[in-house]
Amino acid sequence: MEKYVIKGGVKLSGEVNVSGAKNAVVAILPATILSDEPCVIENIPNISDVTITLQIMREMGAKIRLLNKTTVEIDPRPLMNMSIPYDKAKLMRATTYFLGTLLGRFHSAHVSMPGGCNLGDRPIDQHLKCFSALGAQCEIDGGMINLRADKLVGNQIFFDKNSVGATINGIMAAVKAEGLTVIENAAKEPHVVDLANCLNSMGADIIGAGTDVIKIRGVRELHGTTYSVIPDQIEAGTFMAAAAATRGNILIKNVIPKHLEPITNKLLKIGVQVEQYDDAVRVIGGENYVGTTIKTQPHPGFPTDMQPQMSAVLTCAKGASMVTESIFDNRFRYVDELRRMGANISVEGRVAVIEGVERLKGAPVKSTDLRAGAALIVAALGAEGTSDIYDIFHVERGYENMEMKLRNLGANICKVDETEPVSDDAEKKAI
Ligand code: EPZ
Repeated sequence: MEKYVIKGGVKLSGEVNVSGAKNAVVAILPATILSDEPCVIENIPNISDVTITLQIMREMGAKIRLLNKTTVEIDPRPLMNMSIPYDKAKLMRATTYFLGTLLGRFHSAHVSMPGGCNLGDRPIDQHLKCFSALGAQCEIDGGMINLRADKLVGNQIFFDKNSVGATINGIMAAVKAEGLTVIENAAKEPHVVDLANCLNSMGADIIGAGTDVIKIRGVRELHGTTYSVIPDQIEAGTFMAAAAATRGNILIKNVIPKHLEPITNKLLKIGVQVEQYDDAVRVIGGENYVGTTIKTQPHPGFPTDMQPQMSAVLTCAKGASMVTESIFDNRFRYVDELRRMGANISVEGRVAVIEGVERLKGAPVKSTDLRAGAALIVAALGAEGTSDIYDIFHVERGYENMEMKLRNLGANICKVDETEPVSDDAEKKAI
């Protein structure tokens, strides 16, 4: 079992390059199944969610060739419609995207109910609502979601809940349906726009992505493309939080500053300096921060995926901060871990009240999900003393080479395999 060992208190400095966006690439890779020709996808992050997605596609028969470290060529033509079983689906939420894409191509799909981060109740009713509006019969049997349609016909769909996943699945299922599909109350996240841009580059006819209403006119065929995935908004935000927590000064490159604005605005408010460039941001930490209020919202509001990392920064901001989670039922599971480090946080329902303390102290802690793990890293980097962060497989689902990138910024971090005796070397690296 691997863990990170972090000795906190080093001000981060230097430059870091942000990788391609996890939540875009896990939609774009399955979307290539809809193409009638090979596709080249660039700027792919080396994370376990990508490995799993490509493995599923390979097992279904797609020809996949790595052209270089961040570019993959996918020939989806030999791919056959196979069930995606529980042992794969439990690993990540985004296996649901195979529902939309397989339904779009084969008019049937069989995918086990998905896993992913445990953030409370995560139903898929809006996905199913969308598939049935397009003409599919949907049933859940023995943990499998089974979809079947004689043909798919465009329709008007109003989502009762603003959902990234249902919007992406709706787009994928509608791209080759007959006629016009109109999705109302659509999610506007950058990864939804990226997926639509990628499909349009393959010949799809999608307009309105990034607004509340997306219109998709079905096409008969999609051709190949070469498409580059957008940079990861949340990875960039996590480095911004890490710079703030360590009172560092770092340049974060390969970002879209517009996507970072909700995060930038909150950091500015508490006393962090942020300078924006065309495709980079510089974050300069201050000595004293003031508490603030945060309420997570769908894009362009403050992203729920940055709530834990930002809360980690607020643990040492003067006064009280109030953090309201309005997307998920239970995204405060990391709070108990931050308390081990001396944070003063109380949680009632979906609201956390953080009373700033002078400094956190290193402790053994456990990642409870992907962004929880990122928050513990941010906290540990700013804390006094050494922290051991367990269950880092969560972090590796969504952050490429986190340990190396932080080490290049001067952080005292190393990855240790607990099953192996900790070598002197590893311990020295963390001192
Ligand atoms: C996506 O999850 C992201 N995952 C999540 O990223 C992110 O936290 C979330 O969007 C919100 O931005 C991927 O893109 C792979 P939703 P998703 O459907 O699609 C409710 C991370 O850390 N809902 O937008 O599963 C749902 O319960 C992760 O990178 C329904 O009620 O999120 C939630 O309250 C974790 N019915 C809200 O909508 C449905 O059919 C938003 O969920 C679907 C969702």
